[in-house]
Amino acid sequence: MNRPESLASLAASVTAPDFVRHPRILGWVREFAALAKPDRIVWCDGSEAEYRRLCDEMVEAGTLTPLDPVKRPGSFLARSDPSDVARVEDRTFICSEREEDAGPTNNWRTPREMRATLEGLFNGSMRGRTLYVVPFSMGPLGSPIAQIGIELTDSPYVVVSMKLMTRMGKAVYDVLGTDGAYVPCLHSVGAPLAAGERDGPWPCNPDTKYIVHYPETREIWSYGSGYGGNALLGKKCLALRIASVMGRDEGWLAEHMLILGVTSPVGDKRYVAAAFPSACGKTNFAMLIPPPEFEGWKVTTIGDDIAWLKPGPDGHFRAINPEAGYFGVAPGTSYESNPNAMETLKADVIFTNVALTDDGDVWWEGMSKEAPAHLIDWQGNEWTPADGKAGRKAAHPNARFTVSATRCPSLDPAWDDPAGVPISAFVFGARRSDTMPLVVEATSWESGVYLAATMGSEMTAAAFGKLGEVRRDPFAMLPFCGYHVGDYFRHWLAMGKAVAHPPRIFGVNWFRKDAEGRFVWPGFGQNMRVLKWIVERCAGTAKGRPTPLGIGPDFDDLDWRGLQYAPERFAQATGIDRAAWQRELVAHDELFARVGERRPDALVSERAKLEERLSG
Ligand code: GTP
Ligand code: SPV
Ligand code: MN
Repeated sequence: MNRPESLASLAASVTAPDFVRHPRILGWVREFAALAKPDRIVWCDGSEAEYRRLCDEMVEAGTLTPLDPVKRPGSFLARSDPSDVARVEDRTFICSEREEDAGPTNNWRTPREMRATLEGLFNGSMRGRTLYVVPFSMGPLGSPIAQIGIELTDSPYVVVSMKLMTRMGKAVYDVLGTDGAYVPCLHSVGAPLAAGERDGPWPCNPDTKYIVHYPETREIWSYGSGYGGNALLGKKCLALRIASVMGRDEGWLAEHMLILGVTSPVGDKRYVAAAFPSACGKTNFAMLIPPPEFEGWKVTTIGDDIAWLKPGPDGHFRAINPEAGYFGVAPGTSYESNPNAMETLKADVIFTNVALTDDGDVWWEGMSKEAPAHLIDWQGNEWTPADGKAGRKAAHPNARFTVSATRCPSLDPAWDDPAGVPISAFVFGARRSDTMPLVVEATSWESGVYLAATMGSEMTAAAFGKLGEVRRDPFAMLPFCGYHVGDYFRHWLAMGKAVAHPPRIFGVNWFRKDAEGRFVWPGFGQNMRVLKWIVERCAGTAKGRPTPLGIGPDFDDLDWRGLQYAPERFAQATGIDRAAWQRELVAHDELFARVGERRPDALVSERAKLEERLSG
């Protein structure tokens, strides 16, 4: 293999193509190349030809399996290393200068210590590999709400994923000019190749992983993983952890929220932003298709995972989706649960850790009632329905699809509007088999912030912890807030006063279960009934009644056309169990004790008011 003579000669030999006219970027790439010692450097231009070439190379290397060109045109399957299947929250760090600025919910090290550790790991980590320079914009190019990042990575899987998930390519350099600001993102899979060593299909470092953020200098360093939010650094790292810090400093919000549009039969259009924890239904809700009886109602999709919201000149929050694609949970996605997602997935998709069918297509649990008679599972092993019965899943529970937003049939015409869309309502929801009612409207901004701050959710495969256990996940941002969570609560309280028309705040729960363990609420498309009530509350036309938690609908306040749903079932879905709520208050107290002194007084007084209403 051809190896450069020395580091110095490599660094000096690095030149940028004509489309890069930014000396600082060249200097940074040179410096990192001298450390990581890749065999070669590729400056990505974001072209279709480049995408196809990288996919071909990954097919050659065994990283991607092409799917059947008729059944899934332009699509591939990737199987990750079994040690690299999800975000690694215990390996994620916020390295602010002071520990108290990272707060009690983040792992922390001093920047100096972490830099030394990672420089040691990056040293030679790209040996035998290619360093790709990946320019990307989070948000429409040149939008006042957008931010630019450049990711240096040794993973071609990351490059093609960034092409699908962001506005990636050389036009980014036109926005940057010769001196524009960008977030520098370093990523290595941490698997250098010795001379002559054969590469595996999913290089990563099974023993050592670090996902590191420096909030003050706005940098991201990631080592050891090639999967999802660990490696596509525009997503959770930039668009949530770093952007939440930018938002705190500059007066805006970066949130783990989908954004959807709802149009009524008379053409009243409103936008709703909803925060649910990972794998709790954002993609489903963002692409909802109303039941047939809701003629004239339409739901359109702006985004399915992240929202950036800035106070607009019209006194409303203006929201953009900083992403340009979906990295969605595959298991459970079907023509029943999410027809728009199934249509989105017809072509030009990269599937990761799903099962492969004998005819070159994909399958996952929940796609169809019956599993195919034979599959290759996500780890490349033979699989039959008998294995499924024995508890071995064909697809990994956190298997995902990566696809451009432009393939989505419900995409909102304004999804790419640099000015963003005005938000009428914030919705907070989590996975709770008990305690939380189907829907409730907060009676003030402060009580809404309390509801969001105290949200708890049962753990899923996408999160870190014991499956099923309830974990407090404030604003669905627990793994994603880049600073002290008490300051984050304060920021939210302040942002309610930053706009003349703050959105109304709602809580929802699609996941309540009965004594037999069945979901009490049918969910999915039927969530339209709740969404309709929410937007009609915003319009001032829907009725509701005070409950200890806020305003809730009576049975007759929801539109039941086309659904046989017994009032007793509705009572189960909306009931407030006082004993359960006493336990819930204890859990709130534990959260606030953890938040410590930076906990805002306004939330302490909201807690007192809630307890009083519950005992009233
Ligand atoms: P991230 O991409 O991880 O941030 O998550 P997400 O919130 O986008 O997750 P997604 O929409 O893919 O959630 C998938 C899971 O939620 C699957 O297990 C679905 O079955 C479940 N789900 C979504 N909507 C509903 C619903 O209305 N009712 C019920 N019971 N389950 C739902
Ligand atoms: C999540 O876990 O909330 C995701 C997937 O959206 S990942 O990008 O891997 O974090
Ligand atoms: Mn997410």
